[in-house]
Amino acid sequence: MTKTLLLLPGDGIGPEVMAATRTVIDWFNGHGAGFACDEALVGGSAYDAHGVAITDETMQKAVAADAILFGAVGGPKWDDVGYDVRPEAGLLRLRKELELFANLRPAIVYPALADASSLKRELVEGLDILILRELTGGVYFGEPKTITDIGNGQKRAIDTQVYDTYEIERISRVAFELARTRRNKVTSMEKRNVMKSGVLWREVVTETHKHGYEDVELEHMLADAGGMQLVRAPKQFDVIVTDNLFGDMLSDVAAMLTGSLGMLPSASLGAPDALTGKRRALYEPVHGSAPDIAGQGNANPIAMIASFGMALRYSFEMIAEADRLDAAIAAALDKGVRTPDLMSEGMTKVDTDGMTAAIVAEL
Ligand code: NAI
Ligand code: MG
Repeated sequence: MTKTLLLLPGDGIGPEVMAATRTVIDWFNGHGAGFACDEALVGGSAYDAHGVAITDETMQKAVAADAILFGAVGGPKWDDVGYDVRPEAGLLRLRKELELFANLRPAIVYPALADASSLKRELVEGLDILILRELTGGVYFGEPKTITDIGNGQKRAIDTQVYDTYEIERISRVAFELARTRRNKVTSMEKRNVMKSGVLWREVVTETHKHGYEDVELEHMLADAGGMQLVRAPKQFDVIVTDNLFGDMLSDVAAMLTGSLGMLPSASLGAPDALTGKRRALYEPVHGSAPDIAGQGNANPIAMIASFGMALRYSFEMIAEADRLDAAIAAALDKGVRTPDLMSEGMTKVDTDGMTAAIVAEL
């Protein structure tokens, strides 16, 4: 069966790291994987060609694809194009219309890079945790969301945290299912001591756990204490599930445990299709379009390549292949090749193509 991938390279280093990933996809196709790739514009490059950050035609392709690989969008060229057509609008439209509610951000410390972390080597060596952030609800979307004049030169800003049962239930299911493929532990984080949404969050996660997931270990933590534990002893965690706001912060904290922005992949998953059971999914590096290094051929392609690895794992159930790709990345790093962002004394400096070739050689 053909597996369809929609590639959306975007702007800046997006196309550079996507080209690198294409080389890796080609390697897998050369070994029988059968990926059919289509490609389209998104972000500033789509704006330049069509006046919008993503066209309806591309949206249709995104809906039809088995998985989407997204590079990065944005750059100074498009800073003033207007709110509705700004490059990020393309990504937000994809997330919203595909209802990609589950954002997976692994924090993995490769042995060769354990010294790049902001924490001591022994705290992070071998770290492999997964932050699962609810992505389509919570305070970023809740209404009312306003700034109003309240007189006497004062203004009042209001953001509203809203969560319904179904939103918490579906993200907790994803957490338990992911934990089963890992070390079988879920830590749920909220602030039930001060937030009603935290009370409901804990209630629904606990209830969902009782219905079919009791084989998974579940613990609850207040999100502030969780943040502390994340930098005190990160290896105690396996899967952390939390809301949109706490997840935004905690996943950035977890990112720094690993050291480099150029290394971090992510996945955003939707609900399973009623007929096929297949989840809509978009895979993208955590980093942006890096205009400061775009066009130099020096970008670290690992975050994008590892994002494709997540597609193998979560969209195509190609677990052995995903493991193989992760091992190839680790092995290439063990050999001492480094893009400039990872460069340290005694290592061999390579460009994007050099890093890609080193990974393919390990495959
Ligand atoms: P950024 O992630 O693009 O860059 C931050 C720093 O990290 C830069 O010094 C950059 O050179 C470096 N860096 C990032 N990825 C790298 C890689 N693969 N290899 C080597 N070095 C890498 O974030 P920044 O500078 O805040 O934003 C730049 C543009 O990207 C902006 O227009 C922003 O809106 C956009 N952006 C887009 C995102 C997306 O498409 N999902 C996410 C974040 C930012
Ligand atoms: Mg963030």
